[in-house]
Amino acid sequence: MMVLLIIIAGLGVVALLMLLFAPHIRKYAAGGACVSMARLDGKTVLITGANTGIGKETALDLAIRGARVILACRDVEKGEEAAASIRRYYSGANVEVRELDLADTCSIRAFAQRFLREVNQLQILINNAGVMMCPYMKTNDGFEMQLGVNHLGHFLLTYLLIGLLKRSAPARIVVVSSLAHNFGWVRFHDLLSQGSYNSGLAYCQSKLANILFARELAHRLKGSSVTVNSVHPGSVRSELVRHSTIMSLLFSLFSLFLKSPREGAQTSIYCAAAEELHSITGKHFSDCAPAFVAPQGRNEETARKLWDASCELLGIVWDD
Ligand SMILES: NC(=O)c1ccc[n+]([C@@H]2O[C@H](COP(=O)([O-])OP(=O)(O)OC[C@H]3O[C@@H](n4cnc5c(N)ncnc54)[C@H](OP(=O)(O)O)[C@@H]3O)[C@@H](O)[C@H]2O)c1
Repeated sequence: MMVLLIIIAGLGVVALLMLLFAPHIRKYAAGGACVSMARLDGKTVLITGANTGIGKETALDLAIRGARVILACRDVEKGEEAAASIRRYYSGANVEVRELDLADTCSIRAFAQRFLREVNQLQILINNAGVMMCPYMKTNDGFEMQLGVNHLGHFLLTYLLIGLLKRSAPARIVVVSSLAHNFGWVRFHDLLSQGSYNSGLAYCQSKLANILFARELAHRLKGSSVTVNSVHPGSVRSELVRHSTIMSLLFSLFSLFLKSPREGAQTSIYCAAAEELHSITGKHFSDCAPAFVAPQGRNEETARKLWDASCELLGIVWDD
């Protein structure tokens, strides 16, 4: 009985402290903000998964800066709702929606084909869309869903648009990765998790793949005026946890400590717009500042091996 009373009293004290310090906790959790006032008039931005969460907030901010922003969404209806809410917030927003399902290479190729036909420049590509900790699922091409969407889908999209980015240079590619890359390793012997599947580890692998891709691409694009940087947005209240009951519960319990989607978008915005980053490439950022990359994310041999494996899976040759 006594123990129970002590536990209840302890929990009460913790709750009271959290209530008292809530504004300070929120301020700390918000992290760094992009203070750059850079304008993007005349520039074209493409953001994947921009109908919700971090992507939508990134789109809004870059539209306010004057860019033409293309929201690449798998669900066009949701995309149009997001575009309408961006226009309601900022009536001058030049936003449009195009269909792109990163879990289907035919959709990615069709998207790119139409994009190249109809859009004559692209200065900023933000590979933002993501899926986290879903049950074992396959993309249309038979790839494990998290590696398929988070890494392979964006790899193919970037490959198809790289010529346009080079022609539109100076241009930037922002790859939205995660702190979760720290807990990942690339399982070359079972890249698509056909032998065994752990939803958390598959997410971490896909986010590590984002970092390795960004670094290797930056290396290959040296001298082209196209920069590539990766980002950890922070822990953000979004729909990302939809597939995991445990993560949904944790995110609800600790929501006070999480960033809002707008706060989570700051580092993507910073990497896309800040003038001082115009020649910075191959780096990883969090809270609008350079961030730590785990040793497995800095391994050049792993990056090259993953590059080759990705090309093979996608049936493409990407040499330069
Ligand atoms: N939230 C966090 O705490 C956190 C932390 C670290 C990294 N990140 C990264 O931040 C990025 C954005 O996540 P978020 O938090 O904004 O999550 P979110 O609210 O769930 O947004 C993810 C977006 O990706 C789209 N998407 C998923 N599968 C797709 C597919 N097959 N084709 C095209 N689009 C697809 C979703 O579209 P639908 O709405 O149609 O599903 C949605 O628009 C992700 O790459 C994530 O890994 C997030």
